Amino acid sequence: KPVSQKSALTIRLCGPRGFCAGVDRAIQIVVLALKEFGAPVYVRHEIVHNRYVVEGLEAKGAIFVEELDEIPPEHRKQPVVFSAHGVPKSVPADADQRNLFYLDATCPLVSKVHKQAMRHNRMGRHVVLIGHAGHPEVIGTMGQLPEGSVSLVETIDDVDTYTPPDPDNLGFVTQTTLSVDDTAGVIKRLHERFPNLTAPAADSICYATTNRQEAVKQAAPGCDLFLIVGAPNSSNSKRLVEVAFRSGARQSILVQRASDIEWDTLGEIRTVGLSAGASAPEVIVNEIIEAFRVRYDAVVELADTVEETENFLVNRELRHVPLTQA
Ligand code: F3S
Repeated sequence: KPVSQKSALTIRLCGPRGFCAGVDRAIQIVVLALKEFGAPVYVRHEIVHNRYVVEGLEAKGAIFVEELDEIPPEHRKQPVVFSAHGVPKSVPADADQRNLFYLDATCPLVSKVHKQAMRHNRMGRHVVLIGHAGHPEVIGTMGQLPEGSVSLVETIDDVDTYTPPDPDNLGFVTQTTLSVDDTAGVIKRLHERFPNLTAPAADSICYATTNRQEAVKQAAPGCDLFLIVGAPNSSNSKRLVEVAFRSGARQSILVQRASDIEWDTLGEIRTVGLSAGASAPEVIVNEIIEAFRVRYDAVVELADTVEETENFLVNRELRHVPLTQA
């Protein structure tokens, strides 16, 4: 008779999960810039919100800074990459003034939101941005327009207390990584309060956010635990934790690595949901599955919803560089 027998466990592995096309592109831009121009390549802000990715790129010669004035004058000829979250207009302007060579890794779907905000502004509308205060994407989107032309709201309560300059001349956009359901509620209230509100031409929440939330929503019912791989500053990952819990998982937790799992506190678990935010690499998903296999008799069940085929080209300056493992 075996001394200890592992208990049976099903891991529901959600798909799509993990890297989106914008994150993939941003990482490629740094890797290709290192190949083309040599180290160091500066990156303003975490290229994507993931320590593992950042440390991997640091090992290859990337240097992460928060502001451009941290780049030493002797390295002015080395490229500086702007992160996938986007930057206010003042950042490329500042880079030009400092004679820096920059590569913009802003996700094209974030740039699209920037354009829609600018369009509202051109049409004379005050812009309402739905998003999380302090997130770099929100700072970037607000920074596309002159100060005072954008108001940030996060919740339905914010909408209720919001006083616009002209209630009949408003247009909204949103952050790309919000909760689809919460945002629908906020937009509904905006329309109720301001019937002449203009929507953007296309949804601002991106395909990757939408698909990852939908897959988690479908997999969550009946899960004793749901794990989302992602960083505490990753907006889309945090939203997945909420979606899992609200859709029926008994508990749902954000983890950066397998070592974050507190095994003693999990209680009796038979079914575990697993997904990863758009900035979380697949190796960590595998690391977590392996950690479960050590402790449980685990089988992985694929919980796929849609297939994603999005793929974004890197900057023109880098298209000729072959992408082989650096
Ligand atoms: Fe872009 Fe959406 Fe990813 S905005 S960076 S595709 S999460």
